[in-house]
Order: sequence, then structure tokens, then C-alpha cells
Amino acid sequence: MSNYHIPVLLEESLNYLVGNRSGIYFDGTLGFGGHSQGILNLLNENAQLISTDVDANAFEHSKKKFTDDARVKIYNFNFQKIDIIAKIESIKRFDGVFADLGVSSYQYDSPSAGFTYRQDAKLDLRLDKSIAVNASDIINSYSEEDIADLIYKYGEEKNSRKIASSICRSRTQKRIETTVELYNIISEITSAKYLIKTLSRVFQALRIYVNDELDILKSFIHKAVDLLIKGGRIVILSYHSLEDRIIKDAFKFESLDCICPKDYPVCRCDKESRLKILTRKPIIPSNDEVVRNPRSRSAKLRAAERI
Ligand SMILES: C[S@@+](CC[C@H](N)C(=O)[O-])C[C@H]1O[C@@H](n2cnc3c(N)ncnc32)[C@H](O)[C@@H]1O
Repeated sequence: MSNYHIPVLLEESLNYLVGNRSGIYFDGTLGFGGHSQGILNLLNENAQLISTDVDANAFEHSKKKFTDDARVKIYNFNFQKIDIIAKIESIKRFDGVFADLGVSSYQYDSPSAGFTYRQDAKLDLRLDKSIAVNASDIINSYSEEDIADLIYKYGEEKNSRKIASSICRSRTQKRIETTVELYNIISEITSAKYLIKTLSRVFQALRIYVNDELDILKSFIHKAVDLLIKGGRIVILSYHSLEDRIIKDAFKFESLDCICPKDYPVCRCDKESRLKILTRKPIIPSNDEVVRNPRSRSAKLRAAERI
């Protein structure tokens, strides 16, 4: 399993993230431990790494992987709980906070996880299986308008209304339970040329919605900034434009020292600048990396420093 996911932009992530080799670091998306291992390789024996993943398989696997390394603590929490984890560990500040968003290749390819239309699986898409509502519940119970809206908002799919209408027609015959059933519904109304892109967008939309990924990401970034030491770094890898926009906007907001309306003659807000943006433009993988690991092709890295 550990070879199943190749860490993306590894060297670039570590270069931005690790300054103090005796520091305390947080990896919010442990997965199969690729980036966590890279961080540990740069740290000395006094350092600490706290890593977490909502996915139970990733947690179990990585717990075993790092069991002999006393510098590491592994959690099976959402990264949004970074503040709670810091409290449990009596950590006041981190030297670096890292996240590599989305799902691992293992989750993506595992038929039991139901993350892709490429495998026939239960239409689930929950990263954390304790979440009450899965993708199939949504598809079978939401109104046509709500389904269309969420496919449009989180998948940026312009045929969202047509897809929602087809889903609602199909579910009157039979409950839609599997990834392949959804695949078939979409393929009947989409030309072969656009099918893969459309399917990717619809599955992306459902995954983001089911896991509340965008709101969680936003709150994680602001909590992480609260917990960074001055000079500490936050580094985030994202894989689609909606995530990247959240990161870009949150970093920008944290870098501003005034948010007063433009027509105010003097500043009346108490806003303080807490971040210096280190990547004006996001870092993307080299052509070599994309050839070695095609799943890296949409990656974007943004980094910032606590001031
Ligand atoms: C792209 S993979 C990370 C791979 C890892 N960097 C590696 O090299 O092995 C993303 C991981 O983040 C986890 N994940 C996604 N959202 C999460 C969240 N909000 N909190 C914690 N883990 C999350 C997923 O379960 C998945 O294992």
C-alpha cells in the first residue's frame, strides 16, 4: 500500500515547509505517509511531527509505518481539528503546517471506497465514514434543483440542470446506489468527447459537498495561522480550482493589514497582517514529475510565512 501513492511536489513542499529542524510540524493529510516521511527525514531527534487523516485505512496503515519513530504522533481526525489536536498534545505553536488535499491514489483506485466512476462501487464518497449522509443519499433524496445547484457550484459543470433532471427521472424507476449506475445515467446524455470531464466534475462536486471540503479548508487555514510560530510556514497542495481559490483568498486575507472599504479616508479596522505570501503564483509540477506521476498534473502548491 505504501508504494501506492506517490507524494506530489515533495521536494518543493519540503523546501518551503521545513526551516527549523528541531521544530514541531503538522501534516493534516497523512495518507500513506509520503510527505510525513519526507518531513521526518529532514528533522532531528528533538523534533515532533503530528500527522492526521480522516480515512481509517490511511490512519491504520501509517500508524504501523511510523510506530518505531518516537517523534511522530498519528491521529484519525479531520485536519479541521488542528486546534484540538494541539491542545491534546500541549502544543502552543507549530513551525510548519502542511496539507496535501483530496484523496490518495489508494482511495481513488480502491473499489470499496467508491471515489471514482472507474470502479463499480457503492456511491458513497465519504472520507470519514461517520458522516451521516453519503453521495447516494443526496442523489436519491435532494430536489432536482438542489442537485443541479450543487453539481454547478462544486463541479463547475454547465450541464448541471440536464444531469440533475436525468438523475431524478432515473431514480423514479430505481434508487441509484452505485457509481456505475450514476455513470450510466450521465453517459446516456453526454457525448463521448466530454464524458470523462463531465463524470470527473460530477464526482468532484459530490465529494466536495458530502465532505464539506471547502468550508473545512477555509476554517483549517485560519486556525493553522493562529497556531503558527512567527517565521513558521503553511504549505498547501490543491488539485482543482475551487480549492486553489480558497487557499489563495485565505492567504490574501491573512496578508492584508486593512480591510476597510476603499472610500474610507482612514483605516478603522483592527485587521493585522499575519502572513507573508511566498508564492505569488502557485508552484506546479515539472514535466518530468507529470510523466512519472500523471496524477500530479493538476497540483498547485501555495506557501506563506507567519509574520
Ligand atoms: C492526497 S492524499 C495525501 C497523501 C500523502 N501526502 C502521501 O504522500 O501519502 C490526501 C489524504 O488526505 C485525507 N484527507 C482529505 N481531507 C481531509 C481532512 N479534512 N482531514 C484529514 N484528512 C483528510 C484523505 O483521506 C487522504 O488520505
